[in-house]
Amino acid sequence: MKKLRITETVLRDGHQSLAATRMSTDDMIPVLEKMDEIGYYSLECWGGATFDACLRFLNEDPWERLGEIKKRVKKTPLQMLLRGQNLLGYRHYADDVVEYFVQKSIANGIEIMRIFDALNDLRNLETAVNAAKKEGGHVQLAMAYTTGRAYTLDYWKKLADDMQSMGADSICIKDMAGILLPKEARKLVAALKETVSVPIQLHSHCTCGTAPIVYMEAAAAGCDGIDTAISPFALGTSQPATEVMVEAFRDTEQDTGLDQIKLAEIANHFKGIRDRFLDEKIIEPKVMGIDFEGLLYQVPGGMLSNLVSQLKGQKAMDKYDEVLKEIPRVREDLGEPPLVTPSSQIVGTQAVLNVLSGERYKIISKETKGILRGEYGKTAVPFNEEVLKKAIGDEKPVTVRPADLIQPELDSLEKELGSFKEKDEDILSYALFPQVASEYFKRRAARKEGLDPDRFDYTNKAYPI
Ligand code: CO
Repeated sequence: MKKLRITETVLRDGHQSLAATRMSTDDMIPVLEKMDEIGYYSLECWGGATFDACLRFLNEDPWERLGEIKKRVKKTPLQMLLRGQNLLGYRHYADDVVEYFVQKSIANGIEIMRIFDALNDLRNLETAVNAAKKEGGHVQLAMAYTTGRAYTLDYWKKLADDMQSMGADSICIKDMAGILLPKEARKLVAALKETVSVPIQLHSHCTCGTAPIVYMEAAAAGCDGIDTAISPFALGTSQPATEVMVEAFRDTEQDTGLDQIKLAEIANHFKGIRDRFLDEKIIEPKVMGIDFEGLLYQVPGGMLSNLVSQLKGQKAMDKYDEVLKEIPRVREDLGEPPLVTPSSQIVGTQAVLNVLSGERYKIISKETKGILRGEYGKTAVPFNEEVLKKAIGDEKPVTVRPADLIQPELDSLEKELGSFKEKDEDILSYALFPQVASEYFKRRAARKEGLDPDRFDYTNKAYPI
């Protein structure tokens, strides 16, 4: 057994999970040099929702954030999370955009790219993987963990093996809903260690309360690394606490060697930020507790709260139990996908439609049709034939890699952006979040001219749509 690797998530998943990704670069800067001295295996600091939140809510350029972090974190590898062909956005992008995004991310300081696809369809990872390899990045491929008929140990072993063949430098079990159980974790990690030679990392959430125990079991089975968050941004819907896991392995063969006194200094800094977020109600105390329903119903916690608000909106809370039973049935009809963005919303909404309309698939959402058409990729098991027929009739489904059907986009994006482009990376911000990035660029241009962005008249300016 080797010392256990610790990936610190406070700069990405920690605040994404607890504080709606609202931590600003200024909140981070004072402590970055200290964090670099800890000896973490890596610092997850970018990707996921951080990019969107920077532009949309914090009036920050995410590329500048990455630069500020890189300036201060010189020894510890910086890590990001990328949704394969979706990058950090909500649709599939053309290959040229994916390649350029990966190239620029690495050029700006990312060393480890954790890449995953919501359906575990490896074709949706190909372009990002090849681009990251070409730029000399460490490719960590993540398996979106879920349970169900299709998800046997053999399924995970084959997936891991295929990932290794694709060029993965390490493999992550990504348990976004926190539903992996201790004994399953032990079996899964042992099976993967038998199958592949690359290191295995485990990413989980304390949503259902079991994650710290799961980490212990996984480590006992030879897991090489775990994701943790410094205590003020740990537990609840976030990761297990760094200090607790470090202490749990002290004086064992997997001793992480991290210094608790130094970790306490990091924790002190983030306590201040956490307390401010609680005061400002950016952190809702309820996300700090345990929500066991996720395990009970095998549905991610966030999906259940969405469901409640959907049903309340329709004044149909009396149908809650019925919809809860419908969710796994819809999931099976749609090829039993892992319930993560976007499949969780698609399955949840369709289940609501099936119950409220009084007839299954009487109304079929556009997104459900999209999944059935193969627009998101291939699912673990085939679709329900009857539902497929009802949804798309004689239409020919997509069987190729979905991005093969998307024309190159970079040139036209650059043209649209016009004079608002100040640096190459702006094209990528614009590609991912056209409206939000445009707003940001407009305000940036106003500030540059010494004008108050809130009072600036943009009407005569040629700005991107
Ligand atoms: Co996560």
